[in-house]
Amino acid sequence: MHYEIEPAAVGHASVRVPGDKSVSHRSIMLGSLAHGVTEIDGFLAGEDCLATLAAFRDMGVDIVQHDATTLTVHGVGLHGLRAPSGPLDLGNSGTAMRLMAGVMAGQAFDSELVGDESLSTRPMNRIINPLTEMGAVIESDCDGTPPLQIRGGLRLGPIDYVLPMASAQVKSCVLLAGMYAHGRTSVTEPEVTRDHTERMLRAMGASVTTDGANISIDGRPELKGCAISVPGDLSSAAFVMLAAVLSDDADVLIERVGINPTRTGVIDILKGMGADITLENERMLGGEPVADLRVRSCTLRGGQVDPALVSLAIDEFPALFVAAAAADGSTTFSGIGELRVKESDRIAAMATGLRALGIDVDESEDGAVVHGGPFRGGEVDSFDDHRIAMSLAVAASVADGPVRVRNVDNVATSFPGFAELMTGLGMHIRPVNVP
Ligand code: S3P
Repeated sequence: MHYEIEPAAVGHASVRVPGDKSVSHRSIMLGSLAHGVTEIDGFLAGEDCLATLAAFRDMGVDIVQHDATTLTVHGVGLHGLRAPSGPLDLGNSGTAMRLMAGVMAGQAFDSELVGDESLSTRPMNRIINPLTEMGAVIESDCDGTPPLQIRGGLRLGPIDYVLPMASAQVKSCVLLAGMYAHGRTSVTEPEVTRDHTERMLRAMGASVTTDGANISIDGRPELKGCAISVPGDLSSAAFVMLAAVLSDDADVLIERVGINPTRTGVIDILKGMGADITLENERMLGGEPVADLRVRSCTLRGGQVDPALVSLAIDEFPALFVAAAAADGSTTFSGIGELRVKESDRIAAMATGLRALGIDVDESEDGAVVHGGPFRGGEVDSFDDHRIAMSLAVAASVADGPVRVRNVDNVATSFPGFAELMTGLGMHIRPVNVP
């Protein structure tokens, strides 16, 4: 599928974005491993989270989907999963594969985790190494990429693991495997990363302690099912925020968005560039803080993005590159090397896309300088990456001519209904099926 986009602005509106991807994955995983019932509302019915759902169903968990976003998970307990009928296909989802590898390492049966073309190129040694230290046996392709063959029936031991990179997926993988170890497993992170796993484990009764950069879990917890209300995904809201900021006369209220402080780097970075964003009606939803975000049009200015905010905004850099391209002056991003191992090489993908729209970008191994300027019309590619597709679609809306964004099927992994929602706000995004 392609998007055909005509220049158009966002106006005055209130919207809700789909549920948080990270929280939705974890609600299925931990709901399945708990005893009793977990009721989920606000679930993200995107392809990534549906792959997690299908995998747990395939391991015998009864998950009732009442409608797209409301589910009941009948948990089977830590040791209640059954051997799946074949390989577990996790599609495009790095979160599903890395977190589930931690769970599967603790099972009594062998398993195989597979993914699509993009996931099959992503680095897995970052989880294979700590799991192997715990006693797991995992085979991958020779370059450390999927598929993963995970041996079952092994006894895992606790470890104290110092994460070599800031990664919530690796942290979560070790903590989930730590549930199957006898004793206390701990991880120390170099930068703060999203803490949804820790919050949900605690809500279900596990003993999880955070002491500065060190997080530990007592093995063999008895998880109890609970109600989980999934907040709107700030990473999806970022595209709406960007569209409002770049329009001439926008005033958009995005309701019920997760503002977990380990995720709000995008708000701080945009505000630092001069964006007009206010948080209204701050409250707790389940164990997660949420707010309504009010975003108005403004003029952005470039500058140096604080590297300390990188891990708190890790998924928002494609959108932030577009903000930088629309800003007065140049914007310098540094310490963003992890972007090169996401669903695409996001530094290269955004540099290529922005250049095609007339923007100058200097790339380095772990950074980029984006020189603000007008966007022109043209044709760009998503590199099969949902966040590249959506970022370039928003940039296209303020270009001086029509833009085609190729290969946008992947938007369905995290933001089903993106084109319809943005068009409802005033943008002109026309999805076109290509044979
Ligand atoms: C995620 C962690 C991040 C993020 C991904 C979701 C999670 O990945 O990019 O979209 O849910 O734990 P890394 O841990 O690789 O940074």
